[in-house]
Amino acid sequence: MNNETSTELEIIYTVIYAFVAFLMMTVSVLIFIYYSRKKIIQQEFEKKDLELKYQKEMLNAAILTQEKERKRIARDLHDDISSKINIISLNSHFLTVANLSEKEIKQITSNIIDVSAKVLESTRRISHDLLPPIFEEFGIHVAIEELCCNYSKADNLVVTYNNIFKQEIFDEIDKRNHLHLFRILQELINNSIRHGLATEINIDFEKKKKKRVLKYKDNGSGFDTEKTNFKKGLGMKNIESRVEFLNGEFKITSVINQGVQIVLSF
Ligand SMILES: Nc1ncnc2c1ncn2[C@@H]1O[C@H](COP(=O)(O)OP(=O)(O)O)[C@@H](O)[C@H]1O
Ligand SMILES: [Mg+2]
Repeated sequence: MNNETSTELEIIYTVIYAFVAFLMMTVSVLIFIYYSRKKIIQQEFEKKDLELKYQKEMLNAAILTQEKERKRIARDLHDDISSKINIISLNSHFLTVANLSEKEIKQITSNIIDVSAKVLESTRRISHDLLPPIFEEFGIHVAIEELCCNYSKADNLVVTYNNIFKQEIFDEIDKRNHLHLFRILQELINNSIRHGLATEINIDFEKKKKKRVLKYKDNGSGFDTEKTNFKKGLGMKNIESRVEFLNGEFKITSVINQGVQIVLSF
């Protein structure tokens, strides 16, 4: 009888232990699930935070560029147009003064003609800088040809452009994105000249599977893309947001003294 009771007790204890062990295991699994979910949610929040920060930076870059561009246009208008029109206006007033000799009238008129021609040239240059007329008339392919040709006019700089598909490669993408591509190229060339002091620039357009690929290369001073002190300026940030419009992928590789290589597939 005593033996039976002790066996029963043992069984009861075993069941209780097993139950407690099971309970503890369940609780620890629940705690584990709770904390790992919490961690995942936290990570997602952090990811969203980073995305938001990136978008804010892009927006900031876009606004700053717009303001910089406005300042430049205002300066161009002030220095190149207003000042010259002032001279024309002044000279025109001189003409109204009585008793001018034939020689004086000739001199003033020639002045007006000269300065008017300069104003016309400045207006042409300013509007051309904003958007080359050739871009609207003949499309991006010819505009890139003209861009390279204009830069190659400078001493010791050769910009070569290879694109066997011509305009057709661009017609495959939305027309609204042509300007993004053009502005990306303008910024890359400006960087190669300004920062890299490059003397040779190559721009190649190729097709790979269903994608178009821009391969850009310069022989300038290059820079260390890994260095933490390499700071993306407004230019690079703008390129990044334009690449997003193109639904593209942008990769930049560079080694000091070995130029810059860029691949943009879109
Ligand atoms: N082609 C290049 N050759 C050498 N350095 C370059 C080149 N492109 C960009 N960089 C480096 O990257 C930095 C950021 O460029 P960017 O964003 O266009 O700014 P910035 O407004 O100074 O042009 C530059 O200050 C320069 O150090
Ligand atoms: Mg730049």
